[in-house]
Amino acid sequence: VKAVTFDRHGAVALSEVAAAAPGAGEVAIDVRFAGINPTDTYHRRRVTEGSDELERIAGVEVAGIVSALGPGANRWSVGDRVFGLVHDGGLAERVVATERLLVAMPDGLAERAAAAVPEAFITAHDGISQGGLTPDQTLLVSGASGGVGLAAVQIGRAMGSRVIGVCRSDAGRQLLRRLDVEAFGFRPVERSGEPLPYRDEVDVVVELVGAVNARADLEALRARGRMVFIAAQGNEDITFNLREFKTKRGMLIGSTLRRRGLDAKVAAVEAFAADVVPMLEAGAAHPIESRTFAASEAAAAFEFMATPGKLGKVLLEF
Ligand SMILES: NC(=O)c1ccc[n+]([C@@H]2O[C@H](COP(=O)([O-])OP(=O)(O)OC[C@H]3O[C@@H](n4cnc5c(N)ncnc54)[C@H](OP(=O)(O)O)[C@@H]3O)[C@@H](O)[C@H]2O)c1
Repeated sequence: VKAVTFDRHGAVALSEVAAAAPGAGEVAIDVRFAGINPTDTYHRRRVTEGSDELERIAGVEVAGIVSALGPGANRWSVGDRVFGLVHDGGLAERVVATERLLVAMPDGLAERAAAAVPEAFITAHDGISQGGLTPDQTLLVSGASGGVGLAAVQIGRAMGSRVIGVCRSDAGRQLLRRLDVEAFGFRPVERSGEPLPYRDEVDVVVELVGAVNARADLEALRARGRMVFIAAQGNEDITFNLREFKTKRGMLIGSTLRRRGLDAKVAAVEAFAADVVPMLEAGAAHPIESRTFAASEAAAAFEFMATPGKLGKVLLEF
């Protein structure tokens, strides 16, 4: 089967690899569209740095049609349309997945749109849930124009919450406004003395850039607000004023999906199925695709992933 592979020099290629057979509790899925995520770019970088992950196929999500069942797999039948998470191997035309990490694809969702959903919407929903957002509260999404960010703002709006989105491109802010989100740029460093327009108004921050925004996130918080750090791009050391944090009785939450145990991942997938799939079915939220590349153009797709200004998900077509 065809899969995206890396070499030690960072070259990305579409290669022929042996098709893995589904093991106990697993199914094989035929895939036409696969989402690329930042974690795949980190995988590629680790390979160039000499990690032992060279043989592993990247890709942490899947959407497609069940084509074979492993021993004891009984949740799905051959022909079912499913989407969900995988530990690795997602950037391939045939993917083996743990059946508990899959959800039925809504009838109205095309395979291409569905491929843009799992990692972004499960991460976003999980972060918002850990922040304890309720409909009467305000959500701030920092880094709102990427795959996870656009999912998070839409989940917040579909819940009925007030949503503020921060991103660095004009096009991103225009898109956010079309999604009924209050959109702002990041506060430039030279204006760091100026208060944020939404100072003390936010209950939950979903931070998708990193430590650079910690002070602004704390300033945005109202009393008892929660900052959920999902990303650690750039400098990884957080600095903010402890007195302000204490006075606001703030909470700092760190989260990662990929390195959780299976049961915790299943819980995140089940919560997504219960809360977010109905939003997708009702059209209250929709996956946003930035660009789709032919799988043979995977190298260009990885270059594009690293380019600022894309809005939403990057997909490969097999
Ligand atoms: N913890 C987890 O389980 C988990 C799961 C999924 C994702 N993540 C992390 O969450 C982050 C977002 O993921 P994604 O899938 O949404 O990625 P994505 O689609 O590539 O989007 C990245 C977003 O970050 C913005 N950004 C990047 N560097 C920035 C900077 N220096 N200043 C301001 N904005 C910046 C981008 O804005 P521009 O368009 O302007 O470049 C874009 O909006 C990534 O760091 C990813 O690793 C974590």
